Amino acid sequence: MSQQQTWSQRFESALHPAIAIFNASIGFDIELIEYDLTGSIAHAKMLAHSRIIPPEEAEQLVQGLEQIRQEYKNGQFTPGIEAEDVHFAVEKRLTEITGDVGKKLHTARSRNDQVGTDIRLYLRDKIKAICTDIRKFQQTLLQIAEQNVEILIPGYTHLQRAQPISLAHHLLAYFQMLQRDFERLQDVYKRVNISPLGSGALAGTTFPIDRHYTAELLHFDGVYANSLDGVSDRDFAIEFLGAASIIMVHLSRLSEEVILWSSEEFRFVKLTDSCATGSSIMPQKKNPDVPELVRGKTGRVCGHLQGLLMLMKGLPLAYNKDLQEDKEALFDTVKTVTACLEAMTILFEEGIEFQTKRLAEAVAEDFSNATDVADYLAARGIPFREAYNLVGKVVKTCLAEGKLLKDLSLLEWQQLHPAFSEDIYDAIAPRQVVAARNSYGGTGFEQVKSAIANARVQIEVQS
Ligand code: ARG
Repeated sequence: MSQQQTWSQRFESALHPAIAIFNASIGFDIELIEYDLTGSIAHAKMLAHSRIIPPEEAEQLVQGLEQIRQEYKNGQFTPGIEAEDVHFAVEKRLTEITGDVGKKLHTARSRNDQVGTDIRLYLRDKIKAICTDIRKFQQTLLQIAEQNVEILIPGYTHLQRAQPISLAHHLLAYFQMLQRDFERLQDVYKRVNISPLGSGALAGTTFPIDRHYTAELLHFDGVYANSLDGVSDRDFAIEFLGAASIIMVHLSRLSEEVILWSSEEFRFVKLTDSCATGSSIMPQKKNPDVPELVRGKTGRVCGHLQGLLMLMKGLPLAYNKDLQEDKEALFDTVKTVTACLEAMTILFEEGIEFQTKRLAEAVAEDFSNATDVADYLAARGIPFREAYNLVGKVVKTCLAEGKLLKDLSLLEWQQLHPAFSEDIYDAIAPRQVVAARNSYGGTGFEQVKSAIANARVQIEVQS
């Protein structure tokens, strides 16, 4: 089937060779071949089920399509540009295998509902796989959290030391982000899993098809109620790219932290040799390439989301060739998110080592216990704002004298306010500062332990 034969007799000459290349999507939509074959098999079965073609012919079509699946797997089916896209490539090969029967496959169908079916089947699979990858990363974070409940790390706001926290608490924040990512994908899946097949080119078909039958064969949860919407809707793809962009933003934020933590300025983590690279000129360097690449790739995925939104914004109903441009964005996003989740899992499993000694020093050498002094007074009846102002004053004096709060004598504390007694030293010790934040969802060790237990249940219930 050359270009001339593909189109109806109304065409007299072939496409300009450069336009044929410009028009073709086979270079990338071959990625859909498995799904195209599966969709076509369901369609062929439906044609027989609805008595549109005889059962023997449907059987021939199904066998031919399965043969193409094998040929593709064995590397014997490698369609080129002349096929234009994966759908034509399959139909052409099917006709070579089955003769005229192959030409019946496209009865009561258009490439418009066909391609819509293919990308939904593709996304369905990929969403499941990405959810599995999210779970793996969550498991890794949870495991590290479990081992580090009592390890303290400075907590920041405005990237200024704020209050010390449990390292586990910090990691569990990312666990929760990933939890929402998982749930968001599960939700997107519901809209991905609706069948457009049978919408035809745009208006339905004159044949007595059974759309529910193909939907059932393909394990869709329902069918599009409107054929125009069925062939031209890409909301589900935008939603997927949105969910993927949010995943990437989460991974990027975590990457940024690892990059900071591994710097000489922080020294909270050491990069192991398995995930770091050197410099070609500076022999002392060890670079955090993995988190940097993840941070960089986030731009790509967010860009794909913008790209698809812009692609859709001016499209009149129903199908327009612009829609061919949705695929590379989806394929690249799936590959990028998958690779980044895997790389981050490896990075946390074996690419970084938390420097516990350095972390312990970090939380002991600052004023991140200042809130606890104010809380100490407030718990003894002094209005919080008053306590806050008093502590501000002490911090100022300490800074001027090069001292920390723990260096003040009891006399100095009591001169500041008579409510202070010996137990102030315990109240401002980093471990106690963390342990005391025992409000629900806080960093107190008891809270963190129960958060870990809840997280375990969460991932076991919805795996
Ligand atoms: N390759 C096309 C795409 O990816 C398939 C649908 C073509 N439909 C059409 N009416 N030209 O969107």
